[in-house]
Amino acid sequence: MKTDQAMPPRYVYGSLDSTNEEAKRLAAQGAPHGTVVTADMQTAGKGRRGRSWVSPPGTNIYFTLIVRPEFAPEKASMLTLVAAHALTRGIARETGLAPGIKWPNDLVIDGKKVCGILTEMSVEQGVIRHVVIGAGINVREQSFPAELADRAVSLDAACGARVDRERLLDAVLEAFKEDYEEFCRTGSLASIRDSYDRLLVNRDREVCVLEPGGEYRGISRGITDTGELRVELPDGRIRLVFAGEVSVRGIYGYV
Ligand code: BTN
Repeated sequence: MKTDQAMPPRYVYGSLDSTNEEAKRLAAQGAPHGTVVTADMQTAGKGRRGRSWVSPPGTNIYFTLIVRPEFAPEKASMLTLVAAHALTRGIARETGLAPGIKWPNDLVIDGKKVCGILTEMSVEQGVIRHVVIGAGINVREQSFPAELADRAVSLDAACGARVDRERLLDAVLEAFKEDYEEFCRTGSLASIRDSYDRLLVNRDREVCVLEPGGEYRGISRGITDTGELRVELPDGRIRLVFAGEVSVRGIYGYV
């Protein structure tokens, strides 16, 4: 492990179980706001909904950022959308690519996933202790696991050039800092909402909302100021979709 001397600290590992897990350990020991944890590979990378995140060495970016917001825990779920927006901008700045967002927080290029985000929060007595925001970005061309092969893509493949992982991480962290500060200043997603909506890959298209209790279809109409997806039902009513155990798909598949 090597720790850069600049503040806030950046912990750079060759191998970790999971950058989110290490970030939580460091946060519990008092690591300051803005601490970044990266690993070249993860042995137990975590995805959303208990899935694993395959994390081979020398290929991708796996990082987690520790933030210590002062807002109420109810607002923390919006950080995932802030992160998705920032990652999209950071990737665009560094690569010239134009990733879209599959609500709430998958980044996609040409209908294939290029980045996933996992946000975890620690709350004590109704107060946020810390939030860790982890992201995995597919950078190098690679053979994805069979179940992902037709719906994952790497940045190198998408732009036909070798992307510099360190520069990309810096660009993403800078974009996040900007969006995070704006989010804390306004307390809502209002200031990035239009921009986020423009990046939504399913905007104004029919989607299938898969909830634990069943599924329904509607037209995706963008997000609210608090991050719910607005889905227009066949009778014209708008139904708000809350992130969590819900999955929103295009009617023909992943996007
Ligand atoms: C998803 O399911 O789309 C979220 C994937 C998040 C993966 C990243 S890789 C870095 C960080 N550490 C983890 O264990 N998970 C996140």
